[in-house]
Amino acid sequence: MSTETVEKPVMQGNNILKGKKGIIVGVANKWSIAWAVARACVREGAEIGFTYQGERVLKNLDKLLVEENLQKCFTVNLDVQKDEELATAGEAIKKQFGQIDFILHAVAFAKREELGGNFSDTSRDGYQLAQDVSAFSLIALAKAMKPCMVEKGGSIVALSYLGSEKIVKNYNVMGVAKAALESASRYLAYELGPNNIRVNIVSPGPIKTLSAAGIDDFSKMLEHVRNVSPLKKNTSAEEVADTCVFLFSDLSRGITSELIYVDGGHNNVAM
Ligand SMILES: NC(=O)c1ccc[n+]([C@@H]2O[C@H](COP(=O)([O-])OP(=O)(O)OC[C@H]3O[C@@H](n4cnc5c(N)ncnc54)[C@H](O)[C@@H]3O)[C@@H](O)[C@H]2O)c1
Repeated sequence: MSTETVEKPVMQGNNILKGKKGIIVGVANKWSIAWAVARACVREGAEIGFTYQGERVLKNLDKLLVEENLQKCFTVNLDVQKDEELATAGEAIKKQFGQIDFILHAVAFAKREELGGNFSDTSRDGYQLAQDVSAFSLIALAKAMKPCMVEKGGSIVALSYLGSEKIVKNYNVMGVAKAALESASRYLAYELGPNNIRVNIVSPGPIKTLSAAGIDDFSKMLEHVRNVSPLKKNTSAEEVADTCVFLFSDLSRGITSELIYVDGGHNNVAM
């Protein structure tokens, strides 16, 4: 795994999340986009907690927290496919923090063999798996966490990808799941808006992470974006993180049900 995406933050902290508390869902290792978001939130003065998917991920997370001197951070187990874990995590977060101000949803999964080859070979259970983990999980998470946000309002951000609305070779079943995720974010934004809970999508360009490594020809995607995007470079996890910080902050208080690309402008290029 390259260390390309693990850059030191280019910005100094400005405490724009001071006094805010948030939950980060989706750290697997130091290359995870969610880890860059967590570091940026801490830099900006937020108090954060993490969910983790099982004991193996907890080991990685604990190591990262020690390295970053964040070992006192709250952590709770959460497999988003398990209703009982969603309920337990929601209760544990409420007990720990009372009300929280933001949530990052950075969770996706599809069978390796369905991130390549013929889209029409997608299996029924592979389709359902990708939808459940990558799209339904946002709905389930919002429901489980609503009691932790409903008093003050807050900001939920989920990560999507261009393959939701444009054809991206090999993205296949995940493109359909991301389309559902984006649509779900708009319906959630409508429902939760009266509670001043905002729901937005950030859509990064390709970044080398554990999940991305499962997509056939991923390095060609990176090369293509470097060559054709207006900024002529690949997106870093830190660039994505800074946009999430903005969406978690009061600076974005008028923004909900939106999708923001952080991809060097790649989504706007036709030729
Ligand atoms: N890397 C990219 O190029 C890229 C581009 C656009 C969007 N994204 C999105 O960013 C998000 C984070 O991905 P990443 O690239 O940082 O990869 P990653 O592998 O580091 O993170 C994926 C996370 O999903 C979690 N997860 C999977 N199944 C789960 C389950 N059942 N319950 C709880 N957690 C589960 C994993 O534990 C992991 O922490 C994903 O939604 C991904 O689709 C990634």
